[in-house]
Amino acid sequence: MAKKFRAPTPHPSGAKPPKLSSDQIPRHVAVVMDGNGRWAKARGLPRTSGHEAGEASLLDLVHGAIEIGVKEVSAYAFSTENWRRSPEEVKFLMGFNRDVIRRRRDEMNELGVKVRWVGRPQKLWSSVIKELQIAEELTHGNNILTLNMCVNYGGRAEIVDAVTRIALEAKSKKIDPTKISAKVFEKYLYQPKMNDVDLFLRSSGEQRTSNFLLWQSAYAEMVFMDVLWPDVDRRTLWRAIEIYAERERRFGKA
Ligand code: IPE
Ligand code: IPE
Ligand code: MG
Repeated sequence: MAKKFRAPTPHPSGAKPPKLSSDQIPRHVAVVMDGNGRWAKARGLPRTSGHEAGEASLLDLVHGAIEIGVKEVSAYAFSTENWRRSPEEVKFLMGFNRDVIRRRRDEMNELGVKVRWVGRPQKLWSSVIKELQIAEELTHGNNILTLNMCVNYGGRAEIVDAVTRIALEAKSKKIDPTKISAKVFEKYLYQPKMNDVDLFLRSSGEQRTSNFLLWQSAYAEMVFMDVLWPDVDRRTLWRAIEIYAERERRFGKA
């Protein structure tokens, strides 16, 4: 029997998603959740309070993504470069990611969200990996929205890790090195089933990728919103989708 899912909770303001045709809705949205530190600093709070405040933003964005019909969201939660932060902040972020995944997995499951981890195992706390695996197992049959939790993710690391595996298979003659196409290459990425990114959304006003989904975003539309992550909610996503809907995507064609 098909699983029945709960409808997303409406936004407390009563806001409804903009009316757009289905071809104007991005299938896959990548989100760089940036600006927590600045949000906290502006309030005289420690940076960690900004991270805490950002949890609700991600959850609201997921509800809003379902409402408008987005099928895949990739959330940049911790980059391979974020290890460069102070040991205290790194420790906080590891524990925080572990706890958020644990405390939100039932809600994700009820909404029909399929949670997947995308990232590199090296250095990542085993307790974080464990919570991600529990969430993956619990939600693997869901099909309303796929949420890629990008924890210890880096675009260059992902490409290097794929190249390493390909080189090893070529060495042991499992694959023919003269037959490596983009299609073959993608099979070696962390989540081969991931769709190409349609809309790349970054909060906080910074206009850079910071190494997020480099391969998958080759033809993504970039939208930079001047709002700090803890102030983001589903309406920020909807506004970005309205901007996306006005873009003309050509993919190299004339
Ligand atoms: C994003 O907010 C959260 C992570 C990178 C984990 P920041 O912590 O980068 O906040 P800013 O950019 O310093 O304001
Ligand atoms: C990108 O934000 C990483 C995440 C949001 C997890 P950063 O704050 O780490 O990026 P930079 O340092 O401003 O490029
Ligand atoms: Mg930042």
